[in-house]
Amino acid sequence: MKKKKIIEDIEIIDIADRGKAVGKAEDGKVIFVQGPVPGDIVDILLLKKRKGVFQGIVKKYKKNSPYRIKPVCSHFENCGGCKWQHLDYTKQLEYKDKQVKEAFNRIAKVDIEEILPIKGGDKTEYYRNKLEFSFSNKRWLTDEEINSDTIFGETNVLGFHAPGSFDKIIPVEHCYLQGSSSNEIRNFIRDYTLEHGYTYWDARANKGLMRNMIIRTSSLNQIMLIVSFSTDNREKITSLLDAVYAKFPEISSLNYVINPKMNDSIWDLDIINYKGKTAIREKLGEVEFIISPKSFFQTNTFQSKVLYDIALDFADLQGNENVLDLYTGIGSIALYLAKKVKKVMGIELVKEAIEDAKLNAKLNNISNATFKTGDVKDILSDRFDKPDIVFIDPPRAGMHKDVIETLLKLEPQKLVYISCNPSTQARDIALLSEKYKVLKSQAVDMFPHTHHIENVVLLHGKSENSK
Ligand SMILES: C[S@@+](CC[C@H](N)C(=O)[O-])C[C@H]1O[C@@H](n2cnc3c(N)ncnc32)[C@H](O)[C@@H]1O
Repeated sequence: MKKKKIIEDIEIIDIADRGKAVGKAEDGKVIFVQGPVPGDIVDILLLKKRKGVFQGIVKKYKKNSPYRIKPVCSHFENCGGCKWQHLDYTKQLEYKDKQVKEAFNRIAKVDIEEILPIKGGDKTEYYRNKLEFSFSNKRWLTDEEINSDTIFGETNVLGFHAPGSFDKIIPVEHCYLQGSSSNEIRNFIRDYTLEHGYTYWDARANKGLMRNMIIRTSSLNQIMLIVSFSTDNREKITSLLDAVYAKFPEISSLNYVINPKMNDSIWDLDIINYKGKTAIREKLGEVEFIISPKSFFQTNTFQSKVLYDIALDFADLQGNENVLDLYTGIGSIALYLAKKVKKVMGIELVKEAIEDAKLNAKLNNISNATFKTGDVKDILSDRFDKPDIVFIDPPRAGMHKDVIETLLKLEPQKLVYISCNPSTQARDIALLSEKYKVLKSQAVDMFPHTHHIENVVLLHGKSENSK
């Protein structure tokens, strides 16, 4: 076996795409490594070269960066959920801005007239309104546990997937991502199911009753819980959910789902309302939203308002516009701006979300918003009345090329493109740049302590046709 090489005293100089730290050796070798922060000096075990760059593992920390801070969470070392908790928040924001600029330079290769600084969050803990926890009979073991003499058998655990693992789960005692009673509800369910002999999911054998649970919270103090079971064991389901409801009467929507499938996704299954309402309510600015279990809602409510306000500011609405909101979810952007325009139409794939959007329009006395269910690529057509402004907020994969082609044919004057993935956003903007110039870009930090970025871009049509 070839001896693995450790290279010493490498300074971490940058953070690359997906949040990996970048070290540079004296000979110019660039090494990607998980864990350190810029300014750290480390010894690195060199692994294989992949896609033109070396990958490595930190073997020793020699000197700590001045930007290193003490993480608040006791699960930080293992969890991977908030992997920048040890990096000063101002630096996190700096690196996010840099990554957006790099994506535009490298992929879009277009000039942006004005890049505004990223809007950081006032709340960097307890900012998520939705979390999913998994049950498993395989606890993820730390290096220390693996190297010890103890034999660890099957251990039931409730928490988050270990990074890159489909079956091993890291137990969570306290998570700093979600406020309200989220931690108490999860721990109660864990304790109750363990005490009463409920089996936990075995992802290799596909058996075990308890699969996962989703908690959604709202700034109006509403809580939705969805517990996923593998089989319809009514007695066990009823006794667990009754116990949960008795302990947490503040849960406003208690639901369960039977998922006998190999995968965890519940979006194609019937969600059964057990107690309380079938949806929870949220409020952004003046607009109230009903959110049902399968509907998307931005996971950071506090920063959603900041995000939408930037999008509206970029759009510079005058009151007479015909607007499209592509990938509308529960009509969030469409309804947020409806009273400021002539009319707006939202398009969304998930039919339950469109049902919510229509209810939400009524709830807010909005009569100039219409909604269509389906894939944007099938619904949006060049036979549409020419919109003045199109808001675009696709999933991470970005837009289908047919959607871009249709937009290029429709040539609305302004496009406001919101994205949670600057790489696909830059790719799509490269195609749009045939007829559009990029006027403004501003990122919003919806996900503190992670490398994830949300970015808003304003595009203006270049030709007279777009007017
Ligand atoms: C990032 S979310 C944005 C939702 C909404 N604009 C908001 O701010 O809450 C993307 C939405 O696109 C929907 N979606 C994904 N693929 C789609 C497609 N091909 N056609 C239409 N909608 C799609 C998802 O269900 C989700 O609601």
